[in-house]
Amino acid sequence: MSGKGRARGVIVAIDGPAGAGKSTLSKRVAEALGYTLVDTGALYRAVALWARRRGIAWDDGPALGALTSELRFAFVDGSLEVDGERPGDALRTSDASLGASRVSVHPEVRAALLGVQRDMGREGGVVLEGRDIGTVVYPDAEVKIFLVASDEERAKRRLAELLARGEDASLEGVLEDIRARDRRDEERTVAPLRMAEDAVRVDTTGRTLDALVEELVGHVTRRAAG
Ligand code: DC
Repeated sequence: MSGKGRARGVIVAIDGPAGAGKSTLSKRVAEALGYTLVDTGALYRAVALWARRRGIAWDDGPALGALTSELRFAFVDGSLEVDGERPGDALRTSDASLGASRVSVHPEVRAALLGVQRDMGREGGVVLEGRDIGTVVYPDAEVKIFLVASDEERAKRRLAELLARGEDASLEGVLEDIRARDRRDEERTVAPLRMAEDAVRVDTTGRTLDALVEELVGHVTRRAAG
């Protein structure tokens, strides 16, 4: 696969805070490239849900670490399966968002998910989206994108998502949640949210999805061909 201009399968890391446009954009970029998509936030969300089911508290790091090591994660047609079960929309509720943010501060959980994420990217030709892909999971990723957007824009997107699912929410409440999650993501001691030095920072505020997809796909094809 080394023909001139032929794209080989590289590793694409897309990081950034909640609501910066990661999910939608990563999905579109993976589709455009024919790459596999790995939504790493779904892994943390699943740990929070399974912990609740098993009666494990979201602040019990050692028990959460043991649980995470036991579970078998796989993405099948882009959807996460945990021990062969597909949690689907249950991963996207406000409760799962809060739980994911709480369980992800524990080093035991992060350590257990590190191997899972590295296994999923091993073959290349993959888009991994998360918070620490370019800094911790794949510091050698060929393409690193760090997405940002204004707080207001991020809150509006999140509100639309929640209302569309029939959840009760207000802009002020969502803005507060997003800022609290940012603080937890940025201030945790293990793998905090920060931009890798060699990442490209892309501000999605006020930009169309098509223009953003084109820009990101451009970064990947240039690296893949080079
Ligand atoms: O991207 P998301 O909203 O689905 O992520 C949910 C939570 O999981 C988020 O608050 C932080 C955590 N997370 C993380 O710590 N590291 C990742 N690579 C992905 C998500």
